[in-house]
Amino acid sequence: QTTALAAGSIGKDGYRHYMEKELHEHPLVIGQTLQRMVDPASRRVMLPEMPFDLASVPRAVITACGSAFYAGMIGRYWLEDIARLPVDIDVASEMRYRNPPLTAGSLGLLISQSGETADTLAALRSLREKAVHILSVLNVEHSTMARESDVVLGTVAGPEISVASTKAFTAQLTVLACLTIATARARGTLDALGEEELVSALLDLPSRAAEVFTQGAAVRRMAQIVAEARDVLYLGRGSMFPVAMEGALKLKEITYIHAEAYAAGEMKHGPISLIDRTVPIVASAPYTPLFDKTLSNLQEAKARGGRLLVFTDTKGAERVSAIAEDMVVLPHVHDFVAPILQTIPVQMLAYEVAVLKGTDVDQPRNLAKSVTVE
Ligand code: AGP
Repeated sequence: QTTALAAGSIGKDGYRHYMEKELHEHPLVIGQTLQRMVDPASRRVMLPEMPFDLASVPRAVITACGSAFYAGMIGRYWLEDIARLPVDIDVASEMRYRNPPLTAGSLGLLISQSGETADTLAALRSLREKAVHILSVLNVEHSTMARESDVVLGTVAGPEISVASTKAFTAQLTVLACLTIATARARGTLDALGEEELVSALLDLPSRAAEVFTQGAAVRRMAQIVAEARDVLYLGRGSMFPVAMEGALKLKEITYIHAEAYAAGEMKHGPISLIDRTVPIVASAPYTPLFDKTLSNLQEAKARGGRLLVFTDTKGAERVSAIAEDMVVLPHVHDFVAPILQTIPVQMLAYEVAVLKGTDVDQPRNLAKSVTVE
């Protein structure tokens, strides 16, 4: 009902679908979210007052559903790598039943666009019983989860009408990136220079994100190939693995094409047997320290007849062009923020395929914007 009300009062501003409009809002929402979290004078991350000390949290437990879960997976890479904080993560519908042993004073990190998802809310309540601090990353700041959290970090994405989440995802990542910086500072794993470097990378993102839309023609070319497929394999390594998962979920959700995401290095342990000309491989491979390894996985796939459609960046483009059937070239950005930028074209690809297939993009069958049953 919330979606219907919001859809009635918010226009599409000339876009064909809410999803298209919301995709184009990525640069804006990343910028707005940063405005709330980064002090412009000192260029330091400033989080709201917390009723607990980030420095003394022994462990974080991240839980969420769907796209929000994939954002959490990227958050785990950051928190472990940069803040050296041990992190446990699971989808909310499983976390509850695992009954993980937790030290009181740990951090429960919940992520949700709506703040009403039944599984995530139930996980929040079961974490609460274990005396962990509850920090929620939410887009709807007057939601049930907001009321039941110790701290809410808002994603400032504005109302998201399309059932397929887009801008809320990059806003969640922006908040998790800021939370990582603040946690790393508190734990003494990031010095002032390090913080300056990561904050600069974040502040650079809105303009880099706006440049992604100049690649629309290349995304539409890829969409022609994907739209003909029955199955699609998405690949990525490190923080690009959750980006691949997000791409596969979005494709399934709005085009009804079967898609699976695999960690690129895991392909040789099974799914490589699926590869032939009829199964396009969509890979996220920007020029990061994992670029060479990803490329060699892609070469293995190509050797088995795989058609490679690759999202890369200006530094990776030359080597990708030697093996890929088609590619989308994004600006090269700092490794830290690369998953945020690389998410945009994988979502755009799903959108363009849905348009070609003529599906109901904003209201895909069997799905609701907010899943309020367990
Ligand atoms: C994403 O495109 C989906 N519609 C879905 O996976 C969604 O992210 C999930 O249901 C979680 O919703 P929430 O963020 O409102 O909790």
